[in-house]
Amino acid sequence: MAIKKVGVVGGGLMGSGIAQISAQSGYDTIMLEVNQELLDKGVDRVHGAWSMLHGKGKITEEQVGEYRGRFRGTLDLAEFADRDLVIEAIIENLDQKRSLFERLDATVQPDALLVSNTSSLPIIEMAAVTKRQGRVAGLHFFNPAPVMKLVEIVRTISTTDETVETLRDFARSLGKTPIVAKDTAGFVVNFLLIPYMLSAIRMYEHGLASREDIDTGMKLGCGYPMGPFELLDYVGLDTTLYAAEAIYAEYPDPTYAPPTLLRRMVQSGRYGKKNGRGFYNLDER
Ligand code: 3HC
Repeated sequence: MAIKKVGVVGGGLMGSGIAQISAQSGYDTIMLEVNQELLDKGVDRVHGAWSMLHGKGKITEEQVGEYRGRFRGTLDLAEFADRDLVIEAIIENLDQKRSLFERLDATVQPDALLVSNTSSLPIIEMAAVTKRQGRVAGLHFFNPAPVMKLVEIVRTISTTDETVETLRDFARSLGKTPIVAKDTAGFVVNFLLIPYMLSAIRMYEHGLASREDIDTGMKLGCGYPMGPFELLDYVGLDTTLYAAEAIYAEYPDPTYAPPTLLRRMVQSGRYGKKNGRGFYNLDER
């Protein structure tokens, strides 16, 4: 099926980044938030990215106008009725996602695809509350969504071949490279990345090296753009903890168990870059 109209639920970092590239790639794009303040923040982030790209000479003023013309925010889910594809990017809470998918299924035209940007929750649990299991899948973007080249297409035991092919074409049209993963916790990338970050926390917890030296080690020793602690702060400690818990629940192996320090940091309100407090005091940096 041909995708022309896209809806994005959630205007946070991931949702606004996805909406930005969707509008840039020619899709009529609406982004939904739960209140005016969050909606304004998300819309400003998208407009801000286009101003930044224009300021750097990467896009023309005409392009900024075109992109803005294809993008708008809304607080009303009913506006999603005519969408061909809806991408969910709300918080990592399965109950909330299931309730959203139920409402989307009742609102959005029956042929449309409904996909989730979850990092690690089972897609089938969202598909199961809909009457279109074959047209539900995961479409997992990486942070920052406008920059990172990968998209994981997560195929459940019910997702049809046609859905996978449509999503593959959609991802390519955004300038991304898609890979297909089964609907198992962590998919491909987080199944490898989360235990790596958890191991770095354990090294630090056990006093084997400083945060800075671990980060420098991985950047200069392996050529990674960020060390594990910089990446933890960047991705979000809460997001990492949820992903680790989801993977550990499916694979109860100590490698995937969230270290106590990570749990305590999240309990204390240290979420990383998103609220300025993490492994590094980002406000002070
Ligand atoms: N739209 C378009 N382009 C943008 C943009 C936007 N919204 N925001 C930034 N850019 C562009 C900039 O213009 C810049 O382009 P230029 O190099 O041509 O000028 C480029 O992106 C890089 O931006 P910056 O110069 O601001 O920053 P850095 O060069 O320091 O790179 C980084 C930042 C891309 C984040 C890099 O450090 C990096 O790749 N880090 C690793 C990120 C990573 O691993 N992400 C995956 C996390 S895991 C995940 O998301 C999964 C989840 O489920 C947990």
